[in-house]
Amino acid sequence: MTVRSTPSPKRIKRKDVDNEDRITTLDLIIIHINELVTMDSKYGVPRKGKNMAELAPIHDGAVAISGNSIVFVGKTNELFSTFTPNEKTITIDATNRLVTPGFVDPHTHIIFDGFRENELEMKLAGKTYLEILESGGGILKTVKATRKASLEILIQNGKKILNRMMEYGTTTIETKSGYGLDVENEIKSLLAVKELNLEHPMDVISTFLGAHAVPPEYEGKTDDYVELIISEMIPKVAQEELAEFCDVFCEEGIFSVVQTKKILKAAMKYGLKPQIHIDEIVDTNGALLAAELNAVQTGHMLKSNDEGLRAMKKAQTIATLLPGTPFCLMMRDYAPARKIIEYGIPIALATDLNPNCWTESMQIIIALACYHMKLSPAEALTAATINAACALQKQEHIGSLEVGKKADLIIFDVPNHNFLPYQFGVNLVSKVIKNGNVVVDFD
Ligand code: NIG
Ligand code: FE
Repeated sequence: MTVRSTPSPKRIKRKDVDNEDRITTLDLIIIHINELVTMDSKYGVPRKGKNMAELAPIHDGAVAISGNSIVFVGKTNELFSTFTPNEKTITIDATNRLVTPGFVDPHTHIIFDGFRENELEMKLAGKTYLEILESGGGILKTVKATRKASLEILIQNGKKILNRMMEYGTTTIETKSGYGLDVENEIKSLLAVKELNLEHPMDVISTFLGAHAVPPEYEGKTDDYVELIISEMIPKVAQEELAEFCDVFCEEGIFSVVQTKKILKAAMKYGLKPQIHIDEIVDTNGALLAAELNAVQTGHMLKSNDEGLRAMKKAQTIATLLPGTPFCLMMRDYAPARKIIEYGIPIALATDLNPNCWTESMQIIIALACYHMKLSPAEALTAATINAACALQKQEHIGSLEVGKKADLIIFDVPNHNFLPYQFGVNLVSKVIKNGNVVVDFD
């Protein structure tokens, strides 16, 4: 991977505006794109039902970028009849290549220290996720290591993950605290998120997940821990503006529906927007709760019931599906994606990157979504771009390639989007453009 500096802006003339000599600064053009997938907003934002599969790709397409924004999307010949390229404008020829919006990964847990590679053997021996957690492994093992780690270490770990995510085409992520589980270490984790967003080209959106597990010092006293979250953590997180969202791991044996509601209602009072991990292992009526709270997005949903799905459709909550997790837990069932689409609920996809399910690649998530949840390649790409942007309420700026939006895009070294799940387990990226700059270049 090479990192390039920002190209120097060059002023060029636009020809098509009623004799008016409008001047646009044009820095970068991508031309002769074999298949340009724009995620045009005319098919809905977010996309639901049949519109999730409606790619309407442009052949021999072109994108023009000025500063950090897109100023043209269309056919290559239209670009040249609209703009007169200047000799200093950088030109990328994308013959035989696929161009899509940058991936948005709307559910990750990248702030942690330590590894859990030993847990695969436990899983192979038949231990369940909750059994591993109850025996002091799982989340609690990561909590031990994360509490010991300095802020600098957490930032260093996070940077490594962000670099790899960007190499695989991701240009915006959401990430969470949740391995600190006390005031000091939850704040430390969110400070790491803040610093990563400032220092790294990736846009990193922050979520407070103090309710990820009950820490050992509160064992058997979950309600007291909930009280700590409500009375101390949430006010501090809000006051220091360290998070935009609040999340809870609502699951049997972790946080109940009643406790989840209490936490998220308190968070909402402080302006944090709600999202929830629901119905991953047991159906706790999480989908119904998500709808009742008007959650922006929910994670997992393997076991959600029909009543909950109907309510989520009404509430317009996005279902963020995380097929990497059942894959790593060797579960037989995945989230019922086809049924969720039939209900008219928009689906987003995310890696859920965490020490139990560690992948930086949205490409592998697209493959898992197609092979295990029966999404079509087009639906999976929609879920990884525009719908994922909606899951973070960032659809005005990212998730599609349209004039005025941020110039975040991927050039793949494959001819069309069907290759994304087809040629799986390898990186198909040729270049990544973030904020108008070529930040990854494998050519
Ligand atoms: O979304 N389920 C809860 N949280 C994460 C896993 C965290 C961990 O195992 O460390 C998830 O899968
Ligand atoms: Fe998660």
